[in-house]
Amino acid sequence: MAKAPLQPPRGTRDFYPDAFRRRAWLFDHFREVSRRFGFEEVDAPVVEHAELYQRKAGEEIVDQLYHFELHDRHLALRSEFTPSLARMVMARQGGLRLPIRWCAIPQCWRYERMTRGRTREHYQWNMDVWGEPDVTAEAELIAAIFSLLDRVGLEPGDVRMRINSRALLDESLREGLLRDRPEAFEPLCVVIDKLDKVGADTVVEQLADPAGAVAISESAAREVVSLLSVRDLEEAAKRAPEGSPAIAELRRLFDLLEAYGVRDRVVFDASVVRGLAYYTGVVFEAFDTAGSLRAVCGGGRYDRLLETLGGKPLPAVGFGFGDAVIGELLEEKKRWPELPRALDALVYAFGETERPAAIGLASRLRDEGQAVELVLGRPKVKRALADADRAGATRIYLLGPDETARGVARVRDLASGEERDEPLAGDAPNPAGIG
Ligand code: HAM
Repeated sequence: MAKAPLQPPRGTRDFYPDAFRRRAWLFDHFREVSRRFGFEEVDAPVVEHAELYQRKAGEEIVDQLYHFELHDRHLALRSEFTPSLARMVMARQGGLRLPIRWCAIPQCWRYERMTRGRTREHYQWNMDVWGEPDVTAEAELIAAIFSLLDRVGLEPGDVRMRINSRALLDESLREGLLRDRPEAFEPLCVVIDKLDKVGADTVVEQLADPAGAVAISESAAREVVSLLSVRDLEEAAKRAPEGSPAIAELRRLFDLLEAYGVRDRVVFDASVVRGLAYYTGVVFEAFDTAGSLRAVCGGGRYDRLLETLGGKPLPAVGFGFGDAVIGELLEEKKRWPELPRALDALVYAFGETERPAAIGLASRLRDEGQAVELVLGRPKVKRALADADRAGATRIYLLGPDETARGVARVRDLASGEERDEPLAGDAPNPAGIG
């Protein structure tokens, strides 16, 4: 066989210990924020029924699916967690305490064209609330995102959240441009989500394409694009239908965010619609203020997803927050902490006679919760000492015939070089009963 490739498939990552430590550190923060907000963690298989992801609004995510046939089953690697979550909620609908507050950190797979912070697999922290139609749920989720950003050491000004409501756009179009064609709303959102990326002219062209799913006139398409340029909620209110519920909801959300102390970190931005078809209400995306990276996270309300999958209606809202973009941002801002390996001690036996005592000592230290490498094989002491330094251990325990005869180990502090004797049995009883 030819030599196996050294690199993992393009767009995927290996996690060597140093990278894994960063990942674990980040995930600990995801979990801690979720816990503090009263969310419980769930998971689902990484391989799902492909049909769960097959929606018809022209979303990029559907074209990027990793999917395959196996034993007459059409399966897919999950591209996002929300469909699995919907499946899980639907399977137990009626038996769950509402509102459901669940979080997850799934690995998601998308066959993306790769750019900075955009990979073909990523881990995505999700927090979702099911069964709560009120905007207090959105506020809670947005507050959790800021809590995470603070915990990882970013400054309040480093990331801005842009907020809009699809319901606002829906209200404006339902009475006018899309009066007889509500089914065109989802594909319209998917097209205008690309505004930043492809520019206004391309968006107009796609909206007006007679063969496309939206197929409105060019002047109507320009009108839609002009609606998206609004950056001020009061201006949006002027353009919205009289007594707009979407405007009232957004105002309430901004007031709630004031109470969380994050009002100055969010802005209204009518161009945020999100590229996934299922959103129905408030939508939000956070970006680095310098604007050099893709979205740090994104989410919104999706009150009709369960119905489209055949379940009973249940309102829902949530977000996904990837590990890759935040990783780039922490790198750029030099905010990754030093994360050295945590190794407390090495235990070294000079000879085979001392090995049982070394095993006993290592077992005792491990029972006490210390991270201990027992030196394996029979390296020379000089090599063991040099290796202990390289491993980043704090201490090395040396057990020779003289020490074991006296029931002690020689302990060297690797930073200071100081040595002392320590009883093998320690102060605590030895639960392993060895040594
Ligand atoms: P999304 O906007 O597709 O939403 O992804 C959410 C976040 O996942 C993005 O903001 C980004 O941080 C990260 N992400 C997505 N794709 C990639 C990629 N190819 N490489 C690196 N990071 C990526 C969703 O997936 C929704 N299901 C989120 C949600 C949950 N909405 C409601 N609940």
